[in-house]
Amino acid sequence: MISEQLDKIREEALKQIKGSDGLEKLNEIRVNFLGKKGELTSILKSMKDVAPEDRPKVGQLVNETREAIEKVLEETKNKMEAAARDAKLKAEVIDVTLPAKKNKVGHCHPNTIALEEVERIFTGMGYEVVEGPEVEKDYYNFEALNIPADHPAKDEQDTFYINGDLLLRTQTSSTQVHEMEKGKLPIKMIAPGRVFRADEVDATHSPSFHQVEGLVIDKNVTFADLKGTLAEFAKQLFGPETKTKFRPHHFPFTEPSAEMDVSCFKCGGKGCRFCKGEGWIEILGCGMVHPHVLEMSGIDPNEYTGFAFGVGLERIALLKYEIDDMRLLYENDIRFLNQF
Ligand code: DAH
Repeated sequence: MISEQLDKIREEALKQIKGSDGLEKLNEIRVNFLGKKGELTSILKSMKDVAPEDRPKVGQLVNETREAIEKVLEETKNKMEAAARDAKLKAEVIDVTLPAKKNKVGHCHPNTIALEEVERIFTGMGYEVVEGPEVEKDYYNFEALNIPADHPAKDEQDTFYINGDLLLRTQTSSTQVHEMEKGKLPIKMIAPGRVFRADEVDATHSPSFHQVEGLVIDKNVTFADLKGTLAEFAKQLFGPETKTKFRPHHFPFTEPSAEMDVSCFKCGGKGCRFCKGEGWIEILGCGMVHPHVLEMSGIDPNEYTGFAFGVGLERIALLKYEIDDMRLLYENDIRFLNQF
C-alpha cells in the first residue's frame, strides 16, 4: 500500500533528521527524500499504477508527507543556525572595558605651512594662483625663457630627460610661458610647484624640491613695482621690521635681474650665526621680464612690461622654522613634523 510506504518514508526521514549533526547533513537528507531523484518523487512517478479514482487521495497523502518532512527540516535548520550563532557570539566576546585606540591628529608639513603663507600674502595683493606641468617640453623650460641649446645656464640646471625634447622641469619659470601664451592680459599670478634637478642629496640640495614663481605683466610696470611688491612680501613673511636689498644678478629671462636679500630676522641685521655674520639672507631671484621673452610668447614689449620672481619654498620653510638640514623635510619622521 502506498500509504504504508509513505508512513515509512516519513518515519525514516524524521529519524535521519533527528540524528543529523549539521546543516550539510540536513541538506543531504532533503535531497534524498524530497529531491528530483528522491524517494517521494519516485512514489509520484508510480501514480500511473494507481486507480484513477484513488489518485487525488494518494496525491494528497504524498503532499502531506512532503510538508511534514519539510516542516521538521526547516525547524531543525533554524535550531542549528541559532546554536551556531550563539557559539560564535560566545567565542567573540568584546571587552568594552579595554582602552580605545586613539586616532592621531595629523600635522601640516612645514612646506605646506610655508606655501599657504606665501599664497595668503600674494592673493591678498590680488594675485591668482596657477599651476603648470611637471613634465615639460624643452621649449617651455629653456628655449622660451631665453636659454637656447648652447646656453651655459642649461648645464647649471641639468635634469632628468624623458626623451630629447621632454624633461622634468628645473624651474617653475616654465609656467610663465604657459600663462603668457594664453594671451590674456594683464597677468598677475604666482605658480607654486615641484621642480627637479640632477643634484645629489645633502643638507641643502635635493633632486626634487619646490619653487613659487611670480609674474606680473601689464602696461607701465616698472622695477619700482617689483621692489615695492617684494619688500611687502618680505615684511609679511618675516616681520614688519624686515629690510630688503637688491643685488644685481643675471638670469637669462630677465633684464635687469637681481637677487633679493632680507635683513636677518634673528639679529635684525647686526650679524649672527644664523646669517653667517652677514646681517642679510638671500631669499629669491627676480627681474624685469626680458623683451625677447615677451616677444616669443606673443606679447608686444613696446606696449607691455613686467616683472618676475622665483623663490625656493624649502628655503623659506628652512629659514622660517630654523631647520638646518633640508633632508628632514623629506623623511616624514612624525617626531620632526609634530613640532610645527
Ligand atoms: N628660475 C630661477 C631659478 O630656478 C629663479 C628665478 C629667478 C625666477 C629670477 C624668476 C626670476 O622668475 O625672475 O633659479
